[in-house]
Amino acid sequence: MLRPKVFVIGAGGMVGATAASALAFKEIAHDIILIDVAEELAHAHATDINHATAYTSGVHVRKGDYNDIEENDIIVITCGVARSPERPDQTRRELLGTNVHIIKDVVGKIRAQGKLVTIIVVSNPVDVLTYVAVKESGLPKGRVFGSGTTLDTARLKVTLANALGVSQKDVHGYVLGEHGDSSFPTLSSTTVAGIPVSDFPGFKSAMTDNLDEDIRAAAYRIVAAKTASKYGIGHVVAQLVEALMKRSRTIYPVCSLAEGEYGLHDVVLGLPSVVSADGVKIVDNYPLNAEEKAKLQKSAEIITSAIRSIGY
Ligand SMILES: NC(=O)c1ccc[n+]([C@@H]2O[C@H](COP(=O)([O-])OP(=O)(O)OC[C@H]3O[C@@H](n4cnc5c(N)ncnc54)[C@H](O)[C@@H]3O)[C@@H](O)[C@H]2O)c1
Repeated sequence: MLRPKVFVIGAGGMVGATAASALAFKEIAHDIILIDVAEELAHAHATDINHATAYTSGVHVRKGDYNDIEENDIIVITCGVARSPERPDQTRRELLGTNVHIIKDVVGKIRAQGKLVTIIVVSNPVDVLTYVAVKESGLPKGRVFGSGTTLDTARLKVTLANALGVSQKDVHGYVLGEHGDSSFPTLSSTTVAGIPVSDFPGFKSAMTDNLDEDIRAAAYRIVAAKTASKYGIGHVVAQLVEALMKRSRTIYPVCSLAEGEYGLHDVVLGLPSVVSADGVKIVDNYPLNAEEKAKLQKSAEIITSAIRSIGY
């Protein structure tokens, strides 16, 4: 069977180009196609990444078009405006109006090809834009999802691992909810090598007292200092595409349409979900304590209000 091609729409930008390079360097996809309204930029990134693959096997990166889309291809959407380094306090939701317009345009062009594809939305505010993509794409709901709180969860794993002196691979827990200011870590069920984090040798409550704020502040500091956050999200995209390609059924806190899970309806937000070639399926009943349940509900209300504000 031919491996699906992977498209990156917005590949002229920081996030798109980094995601494309991660996909190429990790040899996750063999055929990577870059699209951007800034065509020369997309072409230049494709050429540069291609040169870097000279000593890897059979990876090909090129600038392309929507006409190249075929059945079962994977499409990563990173296009849109990003948070401004001149305004480090700017929230992701402030990008809403412009990016809704862009996402509708892009998803309309994908839909016009009439192919059964999988879409991963990365552009912010990712929960709301994923909702728009679900509604506008005409694809089955499991075929459209967003990166959700996968990057926030990566930050949680690395922060706790560094504090406890263990590998980030041994930290199991999530940040859930909105990829934004109402996200929260699921500390009540976070474990390190199977041990509840608060029982792990060397744990101090100061390590988790302000963890959600620390994780969010790290993102704001990155944007303020170097314009954009790109390596973390670029590699998150590569992991998600790998899960789709390898049918690995890996669980990531991506965002997709909730229809009853956790008592939530018609809203998109980061929840533990199985990612496989069949698409995405939310894992229901992940254990949350009363405080975490209330935070999830609050996140859902914030996202729902943003969804209503754009006319859905
Ligand atoms: N979900 C996450 O965890 C996460 C993390 C970091 C950044 N982001 C988001 O990713 C997005 C991209 O960030 P960036 O730093 O790469 O921005 P960027 O400005 O560097 O790149 C955006 C690119 O989109 C292109 N573009 C704009 N409209 C387009 C259209 N209609 N069709 C095709 N291409 C179009 C632009 O030409 C540009 O090259 C932002 O919305 C940002 O907030 C998400």
